[in-house]
Amino acid sequence: MGFPRHRPRRLRTTPALRRLVAETTLEPRQLVLPMFVADGIDEPRQISSMPGVVQHTRDSLRRAAADAVAAGVGGLMLFGVPRDADKDPTGSVAVAEDGILNVALRDLASDLGDDTVLMADTCLDEFTDHGHCGIVDASGRVDNDLTNKRYVELAVAQADSGAHVVGPSGMMDGQVAAIRDGLDAAGHTDTVILAYAAKFASGFYGPFREAVGSSLRGDRRTYQQNPGNAREALHEVELDIDEGADIVMVKPAMGYLDVVRAAADLSPVPVAAYQVSGEYSMISAAAANGWIDLQAVALETLTSIRRAGADIVLTYWAADVAGWLA
Ligand code: PBG
Repeated sequence: MGFPRHRPRRLRTTPALRRLVAETTLEPRQLVLPMFVADGIDEPRQISSMPGVVQHTRDSLRRAAADAVAAGVGGLMLFGVPRDADKDPTGSVAVAEDGILNVALRDLASDLGDDTVLMADTCLDEFTDHGHCGIVDASGRVDNDLTNKRYVELAVAQADSGAHVVGPSGMMDGQVAAIRDGLDAAGHTDTVILAYAAKFASGFYGPFREAVGSSLRGDRRTYQQNPGNAREALHEVELDIDEGADIVMVKPAMGYLDVVRAAADLSPVPVAAYQVSGEYSMISAAAANGWIDLQAVALETLTSIRRAGADIVLTYWAADVAGWLA
């Protein structure tokens, strides 16, 4: 019996060797922290389905954002949670200058300036009384082109409020082109568009719906994608690039790593992936039961998302990871 000719284990002998040949990096600068800010609360409110994640008050958001930036995260993605009484069919409070998301963006822009990349969710679902991502017509359909007009107002309001990046997440056709034109016409030619290009109608958004107090009844299957459709996802990615997206995103992440890889292979612009609420909650719950090690699994999943080709990862662990890696 001869010796094995190939011994891949050789390169795993010491930590230094393993470090030398590591193919995939995971760095805090690659991670974006999604954060929630709620109107009308005095104390941060724990989101029960997302242990460790809260709806912030304006003040607690400022502190947590400053801490995350000091820890080295690459950016912040902000979601607004209005009072129920302020929701209406067209999500007016999303556009209002004194709406919670725009107010919080101004807070963070004045605290942090260009020390971080400030991003805003450019969508209506948190702000509409029916919970849909767009404007619903008399027959109950989400009106694509009318919604795009609203998205333009939303994006301009967010850019006016200090967002470096707008993140259209509503999956309307033509939303990126409409927003690009609208931003440019308003003088915001340098505002970046992070397009939720391939966003699937996923059960993994469940905990997020609690996080934003969503009013949705029904589902989003007339605008978000069928989880089985990979070719269509790449079509969506190509359309968004063609419409002027600066960054394209695939969402959720873990169940869609093949789509992340395919998008990374074709995209001339950076690719992001969103490790969504259900991914976070699932791992958190298993760890809380002592079934898996939270830190090990969180890092492994994020490394896998990077390995699949994501340049940027949105994750609720962004600040924790920055601490763990320090
Ligand atoms: C829409 C939006 C959603 C998420 C991000 N942006 C919810 C949805 O599409 O239903 C989900 C994020 C998560 O689950 O962590 N504004």
